[in-house]
Amino acid sequence: MLETQIAPTPGDTSWFRHDRFGLFIHWGLYALPARHEWVKSMECIPDGIYDRRYFEHFDPDLYDPQRWAAAAANAGMKYFVVTTKHHDGFCLWDSKHTDYKSTNSPCGKDLLRPMVDAFSSRGLRTGFYHSLLDWHHPDYIVDYKNHSRRNELPPADVPPVGMGPAATGANHTGADINAGRDQSRYAAYLRDQVRELLTEFGDVSALWFDFSFVRDPDHPRDDFVYNKGREAWQSEKLYEMIRELQPNVLLTDRLDLDRHLSGGDFKTPEQAQPTQWVEVDGQPVTWEACQTFSGSWGYYRDEHDWRSTKQLITTLIDCVSKGGNLLLNVGPNGRGEIDQRALDRLEGIGRWMRLHSRSIYGCTQAPDEFACPRDCRLTYHPEKNRLYLHLLSWPYKFVHLTGRAYADRVEYAQLLNDASECRGLDEWHASHLQLPEHTLTLALPQREPEGVEVPVIELFLR
Ligand code: GLC
Repeated sequence: MLETQIAPTPGDTSWFRHDRFGLFIHWGLYALPARHEWVKSMECIPDGIYDRRYFEHFDPDLYDPQRWAAAAANAGMKYFVVTTKHHDGFCLWDSKHTDYKSTNSPCGKDLLRPMVDAFSSRGLRTGFYHSLLDWHHPDYIVDYKNHSRRNELPPADVPPVGMGPAATGANHTGADINAGRDQSRYAAYLRDQVRELLTEFGDVSALWFDFSFVRDPDHPRDDFVYNKGREAWQSEKLYEMIRELQPNVLLTDRLDLDRHLSGGDFKTPEQAQPTQWVEVDGQPVTWEACQTFSGSWGYYRDEHDWRSTKQLITTLIDCVSKGGNLLLNVGPNGRGEIDQRALDRLEGIGRWMRLHSRSIYGCTQAPDEFACPRDCRLTYHPEKNRLYLHLLSWPYKFVHLTGRAYADRVEYAQLLNDASECRGLDEWHASHLQLPEHTLTLALPQREPEGVEVPVIELFLR
C-alpha cells in the first residue's frame, strides 16, 4: 500500500488524508475589478490607482460567512483555506502590523474572524493561505518577475514568473525605486503576521504559503530583484516559529526550504490533475490538487467556461483514486457573495456526496492487484476493506473486472446510491462474450441511476 510508504512529515496529515475535500477561498480587493486576482500585476496598476479604485470602494455589505460555511459543509467539504492576504498585500483581518486591511476600507470589519467562527461551527477545519509575495509592502524589493512596479526598474531582459507580461522598462525614470527598501524588514513583517494568525484564531490546521521563485540561474538567490525564495522570506526562521506555535499545522511545499518537500507536509499541484500518485524522489507523498471552477481564483465576472458539476465530482474522485485531496476554489464577489454558478455546483456536488461520500472519506488508491477497468476510477477504504468502482461512463449492461483479485476476493457488490445488489453474469450472456480468465462480471441496470452524475459500485472484499 502506497499510503504506508509515505515518509512522515512534521505536521499532522492523518485528518487531511482522511477528509480529502476542502474549500479554497480567494477573496480580497481584486473581487472589485473582477478580472483575476493578479490584475494589479498583469496590468501594472500603480498603488495609488489600485487603492483609490478598490481599497476605497471595498464594502462587501452582503457578506454572511454562515452561508459560505453552509455551502461548503453541504458540499461535503471538511476544511477551508482562505486568503488572509494575497499578492496585492491586502489583509482580511485586523492585523496590528499594517494599515492595509479590511477594517480600514469602507467595509470597516475584520472579515476573517467571523469566517473562522462560521466554518468551525459547522465542523470544518481552518486553513490560511498567506501570500509570500507582497506588491504593496514598502520594504518588499521590487522585482522584474511579477511585481506590479516592475516597469519602473531599468530595462532588462528578464522572463516573468507568474501571470502578466515581462518588464519593459517603460516607466523607468532613472530613480532607484528599491533605495531604502529592506527585504529583511519585510521578512520580519511576514513572521509578525503569521504569529498573529497562529495565536489569535485558535487551531489552524493548514498554512498555505504561496510562493517562491528561484529559477533564474544567471543571478544569485539572494538578489531579490530576480529571485525570491528561502533568503527573501527567511523561511528557516519563519518555519521554526511556526513549528513552535502550532507544531501540527500542515504547510505547503512553497517555502523553498532546504528540506524534504521544501519543509512542507504536502505537494500542491494546481490547475492540472496528476496522472498518478504524486512522488518526490521516487517516494509517494501527501498531496492536494487545488482547482478552480473556471480558471481564475479570484472572482472573474466575464469568465464563462465553467466546469460542470459532473466534471468537478470526477476531479474529486480522480484525486482520491491517486491518494490525494481536492481543494476546490470559490472567488466570492465584492458584495461578499459566492455567486450562483458556484453555489449551484457546490449544491450538485453535495447531492452526490450525500449518497457517495463513503467512496471518498477515509479512502485512497486501490491496491495494485485490482486493475481499473476502462472509463472507471477505483478508490479503496483500507479499514473497511471495500473497493469503490466509479463508472465515468455507463457501460452496456455489464462491467467486467478482470484479474484474480476480483475473482477471489469480492464477496458482495451493490450500487452505492441505493444499496441495490449487482449480480454476476448468467451463462446465456457469458456465451456471447469472450472474457479473459478470472473475470468478475457484474450486471447493471439498463440505465444509470437517475440524477447520479457518477454512479459507484461498492465491492465488499473478503
Ligand atoms: C498561484 C497564484 C495564485 C493562486 C495560487 C493558488 O500560485 O499566484 O494567484 O492564489 O496559485 O494555488
